[in-house]
Amino acid sequence: MTYRAEIGTHLTNFIYDSEEQERKEGKLTTGSLSRILRSIEDTSKLISSEIRMAGLADIIGTTGKVNIQGEIVKKLDELTNYLLVENLSKNERIYAIASEEMEKPIFPEKGKEGNYIISFDPLDGSSNIDVNVSIGTIFSIKKKIDGTEKDFLQPGKEQVAAGYVLYGNSTMLVYTTGNGVNFFTLDTKPGLYLLSESNWKMPDYGHVYSFNDSKYYLWDEKDQDFVEKFKQVNKIVGKNMYTARYIGSLVADVHRTLIQGGIFANPTKKLRLLYEAQPMAFIVEQAGGIATNRTENIMDVVPIEIHERIPLYLGSKKNMEDYKRHCNSRKYTGKKA
Ligand code: F6P
Repeated sequence: MTYRAEIGTHLTNFIYDSEEQERKEGKLTTGSLSRILRSIEDTSKLISSEIRMAGLADIIGTTGKVNIQGEIVKKLDELTNYLLVENLSKNERIYAIASEEMEKPIFPEKGKEGNYIISFDPLDGSSNIDVNVSIGTIFSIKKKIDGTEKDFLQPGKEQVAAGYVLYGNSTMLVYTTGNGVNFFTLDTKPGLYLLSESNWKMPDYGHVYSFNDSKYYLWDEKDQDFVEKFKQVNKIVGKNMYTARYIGSLVADVHRTLIQGGIFANPTKKLRLLYEAQPMAFIVEQAGGIATNRTENIMDVVPIEIHERIPLYLGSKKNMEDYKRHCNSRKYTGKKA
């Protein structure tokens, strides 16, 4: 049964209470996953506070007072990777860590007996840092199998938890363990994440399409036509039936799609299967949506290597069904128009 809690519940309590419920239901739980989620919760607060200081780094640096860490200011993406690796390596339940920022996974000494592996994109959308636009951290947790790098190559459906932290107007942690999606908003004064949406379901249909139009020339004719249709409908009815929104930070674009519905796509094979597509697909499916690479559900795609990139299409159920119908509606030549 899905664990339900009152809006305003602290994340830490939520994590432990939902584990307690599982135990009452007779599930064999070791509490390991809860501890890992707690490590992510703690680290994300540190990252959030570093990000809030980002614009001040130079100013503080030039005054000669202190810099962010009391040491050499690192680039934020390096710093976030460092903080996550450092903190998660101390967690005895984590056997291996893969990061978008590291060529190879690491196997921390403390996690020798751990049963879980974690992969993450420490700071997604980092090109948006300099312009003070929302960015995020994305994570995915799977079970250890053989204890080798290959364990990371399990399909998305083997994830036991996934989530993201959005550093936006407010900091939000959104995650699923396969029992629905819950949103937590960081109340910065006490430094606590509070439940702000429980078992979130995205709208069945939305009027927003989110494609990077400047890369139109890289898409095949199916995607070009699909986006053209939205513009044609607007032209025919003489008003915006559909609107385009594209932030260029996956976390922010997915978050908007979860809330307002619609379709998001990056057809260019830029996004990473392990660090971006799998965790986002898990969340979107748990919220009632669909995520594909056009031919297969993302959750079924078996990764070939840890830094593999794929096309990603995700969104509300009906938008995604429309997209599928569109793709099947005429013979695919694979050509660019
Ligand atoms: O993968 C990094 C990233 O910044 C994502 O957060 C974002 O969705 C994407 O790149 C933007 O890609 P593009 O340049 O193709 O629009």
